[in-house]
Amino acid sequence: MCGIIGYIGDKQAQPILLGGLARLEYRGYDSCGVALAGGTLEVYKDAVRVEKLAKVSPQLDGTVGIAHTRWATHGEPSRVNAHPHLDCTGKIAVVHNGVINNYQRLKQQLISEGHKFVSETDTEVIPHLIEKYYEGDLEKAVEAALREVEGSYAIIVLMADEPGLVAARKDSPLIIGIGDRENFIASDVPAILGHTDRVIYLEEGDIVVVTGDSVRVSRDGVEVDWKEHKVSWSVEDAQKAGYEHFILKEIHEQPRVIRDTLGEYISAAEPIVDVADTSLESMLILACGTSYHAALVGKYIVEELLRIPVRAELASEFSYHGQSPATTMTIVITQSGETADTLKAMKKLKEAGCRVIAVTNVVGSSATRIAEQTVYIRAGPEISVAATKSFIAQLMALYWLALSYSVLDMRTRDSLIMELRQLPEKVQQVLNNEDMISECARYLSKYENAFFIGRGINFAIALEGALKLKEISYIHAEGYAAGELKHGPFALLSPDMPVIAIVAQDNTYEAMLTNIKEVKARGSPVIALAEEGDEVIGELADSVITVPQVAPIFSPVVNTVALQLLAYYTAKQRGCPIDFPRNLAKSVTVE
Ligand code: M6R
Repeated sequence: MCGIIGYIGDKQAQPILLGGLARLEYRGYDSCGVALAGGTLEVYKDAVRVEKLAKVSPQLDGTVGIAHTRWATHGEPSRVNAHPHLDCTGKIAVVHNGVINNYQRLKQQLISEGHKFVSETDTEVIPHLIEKYYEGDLEKAVEAALREVEGSYAIIVLMADEPGLVAARKDSPLIIGIGDRENFIASDVPAILGHTDRVIYLEEGDIVVVTGDSVRVSRDGVEVDWKEHKVSWSVEDAQKAGYEHFILKEIHEQPRVIRDTLGEYISAAEPIVDVADTSLESMLILACGTSYHAALVGKYIVEELLRIPVRAELASEFSYHGQSPATTMTIVITQSGETADTLKAMKKLKEAGCRVIAVTNVVGSSATRIAEQTVYIRAGPEISVAATKSFIAQLMALYWLALSYSVLDMRTRDSLIMELRQLPEKVQQVLNNEDMISECARYLSKYENAFFIGRGINFAIALEGALKLKEISYIHAEGYAAGELKHGPFALLSPDMPVIAIVAQDNTYEAMLTNIKEVKARGSPVIALAEEGDEVIGELADSVITVPQVAPIFSPVVNTVALQLLAYYTAKQRGCPIDFPRNLAKSVTVE
């Protein structure tokens, strides 16, 4: 989704803005642009990568500017639709993240008043509205313009000859980075890493005026105090550290991520979730995409360890039909904390009187503001669009939560906790198997379709394995409950349809072997994921990826890491843009 950055200070703005844009690339984008102010505004934008924009835009002199990466919603990716957008005078420039729902009506009105539009975007109404209301005070003009606007926005406004930048947010995140004789405005923390670790997370409805040495925040026309936070992420966390791709680095970081996340939960004096007035008789877990797959694993974990019924639901569906009694413990899982569908479901639950607990990676994100309680995972910045380490960290939060309230006897619980603590080593063993997995990937990369099958707790991992493969390698992949394949998808089995089968050492084992035989009998090649020491599987499958032995409840962890590597090396073999797949965005801030 769109990314925005603004700079004002005593340094040349252009390299800082372009550097910030490069760190926002991970959000997913199709065009980008920059505007700098001196006496006039200089704007360079196009449907190109940031690297190209940096090469083609001339050296601009100026210490204040704004920049944007655009993920097209209204109008194709093109130079004219790229941000910043200008008013008629060419003196007011705006970058915007979000969607203006009533832009068509506003545009018609502004056209009838003589304003000329050049793009197909919803954003362009904002600079024209500001122009309309400008009477010498930019902040007041922005306030008046935003009163007319319906929808979501994080905007930065730059005006030639104005001493400061004006920014505002509603349903779209925006932060201020505080520097020494310089300040930053950005859609998220990675944009400003390396410049400052001091940030203000703006609240809903905030309008802020930022100069090189001051930050003034107002809400509903009244100046409000702001709170400074220290960011724990470093610039190195958001770099590739010698790996060819961010995703490979992030896959390899997982032993550390497990240690950090668990370490924090284990050392906490209190349980990570305060169950308060929820009776822990039932649970609802909501999420989207990969986080939804974590929710599905969570369902199995909690049902097994707490013996209560759990619903795992897609947040995007729940917003329209779902309901939950206030006594149900409600958890939402979201890496970014900004997924529009998830936030919508959270708001609906809150309005119905439910206490919502957010599991997220991003401090100060919108989910943390809506939730009653937040459980942070310690994944660090996840730059690759495809989620890897955040998924594993989400599982750690769910394991720990379930173990904290489990109905198991003390001995069984302690032995599971001991196994949980050994997971970093087990994951490292999977990573050490990289060469073998990349051999399987070479084979898989020749196909255009694949099925992933699993049973029980690993059904969710079949879904996640398929999602990872399709999003980064562009192979059409479907995750299926192994027992369901014969109820229809069997029609697709053939030598051109490989099946990746997750074989866990639990009560599903025998049934999985039967399913594999059925698949083989219909001509599909089988790649099996199986535990070390499984003597049988080698005779059934065409190739076997082995994973270390773990308690069945932890098998999703080692299996996921193996499937992440399989997807990565398959995508690499096919020459795909692995970190930034086409059409995708890291945080999906539109419905
Ligand atoms: O930030 P969130 O966890 O809420 O994001 C949800 C999905 O958009 C996300 O998991 C998406 O499916 C990933 N690209 C998958 O790799």
